Amino acid sequence: MSKLSIIAGKSSEDIARKLSRRIKANFVESQIRVFEDGESKITLSGKISKKKSIIVQSIYPPVDTNLIQALSLISKAKEISSEVIAVIPYMGYARQDREFLPGEIVTMKVLGKLFKGAGASKIIVIDIHSMIGLKHFSIKTKNVSAIPELVRYVKKLRLKNPLVISPDHGGKERAKEFAKKLGTEYIALEKKRDKKTGKVQIKTKNLNEVANRDLILVDDMISTGGSIVKAAQFLKKQKCKKIYVACTHALLINNAEIKIKKAGITEIISSNTIPGKTSIVDVSETIAKVI
Ligand code: R5P
Repeated sequence: MSKLSIIAGKSSEDIARKLSRRIKANFVESQIRVFEDGESKITLSGKISKKKSIIVQSIYPPVDTNLIQALSLISKAKEISSEVIAVIPYMGYARQDREFLPGEIVTMKVLGKLFKGAGASKIIVIDIHSMIGLKHFSIKTKNVSAIPELVRYVKKLRLKNPLVISPDHGGKERAKEFAKKLGTEYIALEKKRDKKTGKVQIKTKNLNEVANRDLILVDDMISTGGSIVKAAQFLKKQKCKKIYVACTHALLINNAEIKIKKAGITEIISSNTIPGKTSIVDVSETIAKVI
């Protein structure tokens, strides 16, 4: 028996399987039954190592269900293993990392307590929305980036003189890193989101640099697609050529994919932190490297 076990949550079974093959760990499967009232019943099959367990579970919708399942897996693993690491490829709630409006609860603070209380001694996430979220954890934290893998895919498209675009200033560093790895330039648009309604506006005026160039819109995540749609509509008006979207986490809520395609996007490229049609880039090697 390996000294390491990978406990696969249902939301990240694919990554967990690939990871256990890569690092030669025991694979522990979870059978999940979600009752009509929303409660999850989890049954594990496979040997849990006494030494170290790694639980793998993304927290995408249904967010609270996947969260309680992650915490339950950690708690069970801690009954047997002396060390438990939580790999949360997509960290739900990461955008609730500070009090934007008075009275708002900073849910990442709550998560920090819950993960520790359940028994994790370290948490590994991929391209978390902002590093501020991890400051609320008192256990060890590690954020790893899927950008090298996304760039590897984009290189295969053999685009001529592409330009990397961030839909907002918050994503500037990400776009810079992406562009550097791709060997090209980048620009960040100015986006404004209404804190109450969530509505997005692009404030950038004219942008001559994008005309007649293929563009890659780079973001950490797509949720409703609002940011990408607004950015694409603006960029199309500036007479660019094709627009590709590369992001780590594609939630694609409420027909977001259809809306994005309608806005003129040629292809959405995302990683398998959230499984789906666009999730063509595998992050298991990226995770394996930091375990
Ligand atoms: C915001 O700052 C994030 O980086 C994403 O741009 C945003 O969360 C995407 O959300 P949506 O797809 O709903 O616009």
